[in-house]
Amino acid sequence: MNPDERLDALLASVLGQIRGSDPRLNELVSSLVRHLHAFVRETRPTETEWLTGIDFLVRTGQTCTEHRNEVILLSDMLGLTSAVDDVNHAGPAGATPSSVEGPFHSPAPPRENGAWISNGPERERGQVMVVHGRVTDTGGHPLAGATVDIWQADDAGFYDSQDPAQEPGNLRGLFTTGADGAYWFRSIVPSSYPVPTDGPVGELLRGLGRHPMRPAHIHYRVEAPGHRPVTTHVFVAGDAYLGSDAAFAVKEELIVTPVVDEDPGHAAAFGVDGPFADFAFDVRLVAQ
Ligand SMILES: [Fe+2]
Repeated sequence: MNPDERLDALLASVLGQIRGSDPRLNELVSSLVRHLHAFVRETRPTETEWLTGIDFLVRTGQTCTEHRNEVILLSDMLGLTSAVDDVNHAGPAGATPSSVEGPFHSPAPPRENGAWISNGPERERGQVMVVHGRVTDTGGHPLAGATVDIWQADDAGFYDSQDPAQEPGNLRGLFTTGADGAYWFRSIVPSSYPVPTDGPVGELLRGLGRHPMRPAHIHYRVEAPGHRPVTTHVFVAGDAYLGSDAAFAVKEELIVTPVVDEDPGHAAAFGVDGPFADFAFDVRLVAQ
């Protein structure tokens, strides 16, 4: 038997022992085994390299805590989370595209439409922004009683859970649409930010010559009775990292240009001082 024949026989032997009662588990693991064996045949890792890889995976798991999931970060940084999103949410034209949830979601405080979600020191530093839009079906009919769950980073790129200067729930809000499907709130323009780089995934990014930055965005999770919920991001146009998001989550339909509004009457109507960024985003859900 030559070396290639031995590898063929080895793979067949492993696959031959996969015979569980769950056909989907058998399918998933068989495919994973085939691809990993192909990886070994293609790259011929040394034993030292293989153990380095195993040590990386062990440390990635050990870095996880209640508030940090380094394995999800690895999945995000390899584009795998976005790939899983793509194969599961190829929605019809006109529906708001989904995007990855990311690691920073937590239950948001319910707030009235128009409320400020920026209630910490960042409000003085950041550019004031009024975010508004409507939740509709794909035909444009308003959806009343839809919930719009919002979370975002501040002007320095930090979420409340990362920043002791922010109260829990800051820059988060759970809004409910009225009869016209509308939602709105006051906030500040978020900033681009780096993913955590002090763990094994940071080592990997440095080793690969990659930056850790995510373009500025607001996270949305929108639900309405009788409709498929959507979890997505809305990105701020003009961000330097839109073309190289470390998590590969940008979709063209999810980029919004904040329009600076200097009309004092508009500012008064929204209850803000001076010029503000007007950020409009409508959400279209697919009926179930
Ligand atoms: Fe984020």
